[in-house]
Amino acid sequence: MKQAKSFPGIILGGGTLPPKPSLQLISHSPRETRRLGVRLGELAQAGDVILLAGGLGMGKTCLVQGIAWGLGIKGYASSPSFVVIKEYPGRLPLYHIDLYRLDDLEEVGELGLDDYLYGHGVCVVEWAKKGLSLLPEEHLLITISYLSAWERSLHLQPGSGRYQEMLAKLNC
Ligand SMILES: Nc1ncnc2c1ncn2[C@@H]1O[C@H](COP(=O)(O)OP(=O)(O)OP(=O)(O)O)[C@@H](O)[C@H]1O
Ligand SMILES: [Mg+2]
Repeated sequence: MKQAKSFPGIILGGGTLPPKPSLQLISHSPRETRRLGVRLGELAQAGDVILLAGGLGMGKTCLVQGIAWGLGIKGYASSPSFVVIKEYPGRLPLYHIDLYRLDDLEEVGELGLDDYLYGHGVCVVEWAKKGLSLLPEEHLLITISYLSAWERSLHLQPGSGRYQEMLAKLNC
């Protein structure tokens, strides 16, 4: 996994937010994406929320598979397409949420996800942008983009000091 570059701060119209260094990585294969997930799963703490963005087939579930392994979960973490949420017992419980099939924010709200999102496990949310305003502000956002058949760019943006710490450990 190569580090492309990290960004010192985020500029929003008119003002600059306090710097929250993000990390841009390039994965050259599903295996590398899973390996990044394993590292994230190993570093995860109770209550962590990891939001995943990026289109169909970008590798979100592939990353979740690695996170599951990093949490000591055996077996395969498939996309919870029909059930929205799947729970896996591990070093910490993994709550794998997929908002793909939901049409609007109201539907996301009706799911009553707060027990998971503010619980003691690790929440990983695919298609997180569909419910962003209802999801915890303190999160790690990972946006995956297509570079070529086997290459993906992964942009990791920490939403709080907790996740800056996590990225610093990931990067060393
Ligand atoms: N570097 C890479 N990292 C991850 N997946 C890759 C990579 N290169 C190719 N792929 C392929 O991309 C696909 C990713 O599928 P995956 O189910 O993880 O995507 P997804 O983002 O969860 O899609 P969906 O939005 O449909 O849930 C797999 O077929 C995988 O083999
Ligand atoms: Mg998926």
